[in-house]
Amino acid sequence: MSKIHAAITAVNGYVPDYILTNQELETMVDTNDEWIVSRTGIKERRILKGEGKATSDLAVPAVLGLLEKRGISADDIELIIFCTSTPDMLFPATANILADKVGAKKAWGFDLQAACSGFLFGLTTGAQFIESGKHKKVLVVGADKMSSVVNYEDRNTCILFGDGCGCVLLEPNEEGNGLIDAVLKTDGAGAPYLNIKGGGSLNPATHGTVDAGMHYAYQEGRTVFKFAVTNMADVAAEVMERNNLQADDVAWLVPHQANKRIIDATAERAGLPDEKVMVNIQKYGNTTSATIPMCLWEWEDKLKKGDNLILAAFGGGFTWGSIYLKWGYTKA
Ligand code: UT7
Repeated sequence: MSKIHAAITAVNGYVPDYILTNQELETMVDTNDEWIVSRTGIKERRILKGEGKATSDLAVPAVLGLLEKRGISADDIELIIFCTSTPDMLFPATANILADKVGAKKAWGFDLQAACSGFLFGLTTGAQFIESGKHKKVLVVGADKMSSVVNYEDRNTCILFGDGCGCVLLEPNEEGNGLIDAVLKTDGAGAPYLNIKGGGSLNPATHGTVDAGMHYAYQEGRTVFKFAVTNMADVAAEVMERNNLQADDVAWLVPHQANKRIIDATAERAGLPDEKVMVNIQKYGNTTSATIPMCLWEWEDKLKKGDNLILAAFGGGFTWGSIYLKWGYTKA
């Protein structure tokens, strides 16, 4: 019997309507469009506005659309892995909340937190349940409402992040398409450079933690950049090398969208021209767990069954990794 791979059989996404432009940010902090575009590549990002709206509300329309595209019902989903750093609440898991909102009554699920590498860690985890034969339909969601943890008075971070969701369905494939290999890494020594210090068990929320802004995302940009630019390129090159893939064999590089300069360095190291690199950072900024599945969603029409894709990410933790997958279908 041929090996069962976990193939992506459907992809969808959702971004909220509100567009926060560089021009609007210029009215909020001491920054300018030229600086933001030249240092990051970002022109605008989406923001989920409205009282009582949470990360699960980004995922609901994305998942309902995915079910419709695949022609299955919510009851067919067996497992939900919800990759996020901005869960609706500390607990219960946003996976549970999503399951309830979309009516996935037969699914179990959990949240997976690996910052910007969350989707790669989630995809690899979900694939294990398909490859083992335990499940036939696993939903992997990457969603973040970064606007809920961004300090819009901090120009170092507020220009970078946006809100969004991307999701994929994993199903068994016996034709050799699906997840082929993954290299995933963590290094807790990176924790001081990118974090949210308040609201966890170390610094439970108090007036003091809030006054000190500890509930906001903090980043030492220059240090993170240094690690990201080498590690993301290294890990993508490693996964290509150990699978004997030359640049010509790769149809698409799907990089985490944190900074256009990091994307360019990864593409250059892999020897891939711009035409083979998915980039939408200019429209959405860094949506953390959502960047990679949102790229797959946007490029779905161009993807062909059997295409070799290299996914790569670097994020808080530090966490980083790269996945080699063969795309599962050609859209009708
Ligand atoms: O997704 C998770 C992983 N995260 C990343 O991969 C992000 C990695 N880091 C980065 O992408 C970049 O470090 C940033 C885009 C965050 C910053 O770019 P940079 O080229 O590293 O700039 P910098 O932090 O070294 O700052 C350069 C200058 C500073 O001024 P001085 O000290 O040279 O006078 C900053 O104060 O730019 C200043 N600056 C700004 N100026 C205008 C910082 N933020 C801004 C701003 N507008 N928004």
